[in-house]
Amino acid sequence: MAFVPGEIVERFRKQFQSAETPLVYRAPGRVNLIGEHTDYNLGFVFPIALDMACYVAIAPASHGQLRVYSHDFDKESSLPVADIATVKPTRQWSDYIFGVAQELTKEGFSIPPGDMYVVSEVPVGSGLSSSAALEISAAVALLGGRAFPKIELAKLGQRAESQFVGMPCGIMDQYAAVFGHAGAALKIDCRSLGHEYVELPSNVRIIAANSLVKHELGTSAYRERVAECRQAVAALREIDPKIESLRDVALDFFERVQDSVPLVPRRRARHVISDTQRVVDLATAARARDLPEMGRLFVASHRSMQYDYEISCAEIDFLVDAAIQIPGVYGSRMTGGGFGGCTVNLVAPEAVDTFRQQLRAAYHERYQKTPAFYDCKPAEGAGLL
Ligand code: GLA
Repeated sequence: MAFVPGEIVERFRKQFQSAETPLVYRAPGRVNLIGEHTDYNLGFVFPIALDMACYVAIAPASHGQLRVYSHDFDKESSLPVADIATVKPTRQWSDYIFGVAQELTKEGFSIPPGDMYVVSEVPVGSGLSSSAALEISAAVALLGGRAFPKIELAKLGQRAESQFVGMPCGIMDQYAAVFGHAGAALKIDCRSLGHEYVELPSNVRIIAANSLVKHELGTSAYRERVAECRQAVAALREIDPKIESLRDVALDFFERVQDSVPLVPRRRARHVISDTQRVVDLATAARARDLPEMGRLFVASHRSMQYDYEISCAEIDFLVDAAIQIPGVYGSRMTGGGFGGCTVNLVAPEAVDTFRQQLRAAYHERYQKTPAFYDCKPAEGAGLL
């Protein structure tokens, strides 16, 4: 896909039988290059915002409702605006929008009655953050140009997801959807909530490969990982009470004291602490245009997710192992929350076609599924089209 505003306006009018001209907002998905599950441990992450985005067309209406239609699910849902402050989640896609609307009312914004037409290019369940793209595009559409600091927008999207939808996520996805920048990756410090833009070498392509395994186990396993990291922090505080999160733990200190942490939390902590360090190292390698080193860090990060954090799955491991055998592939790793979704691959431009052909054939032969590939070019964060 690749939507143009005119098309969405037409679809909006047809869907709502309206003559209004809606405004169209967009917010991007993201691919994380390294630093997985480090955000809620207040470490670093390194995503790029994608040109695949979620679009929301919005116009005022006189029916007293917030009426939303999802093109992708072909479902409509409405809520009297008077009920936004008290609505409870219903475990449907509209939770993302009503959750954002509720958070905006808590911030003192009134939500006028209106119609919203939602259409997304970000594949659901692929680890490319379709939910943050939906939350942030809905939030900017509902704000309709009213001033709100960008960082607050990211935090509001995260609150909608963790408190209303019930997925206890970190800040990375919403942050990337807000602050994404064409031509650069974002190195985000999840403690200070500041970021720097890091330009990527021009002689490499970033290709996501979709295993088509949906991360359905995701939420409960995610919750477990959050709890295991807290257990690791509790054990490490016995040694140094100044430690408040895994961000405070240097790798060499951890290696000296790790035996005092119970086995499973110890492995989780080892992943988080080492992957935070790998974010710093990847940014350095990217600035030095050192592609072999970037590739090495990718694979080290994947092994850490595979064996220590235990969030990979057979299909994803297969995609990584097959990719790194292909000439011109510098590195490969799973991206996002885990248990399926996409791998992200660093590929020499001249090797991209072979990479796709060989990986497609190998995956099809093993799993009888054809992976989808996405060319990941850094794009701008959320805004009006
Ligand atoms: C999901 C969450 C993010 C982050 C990643 C893992 O995408 O929404 O906050 O924790 O998983 O890095």
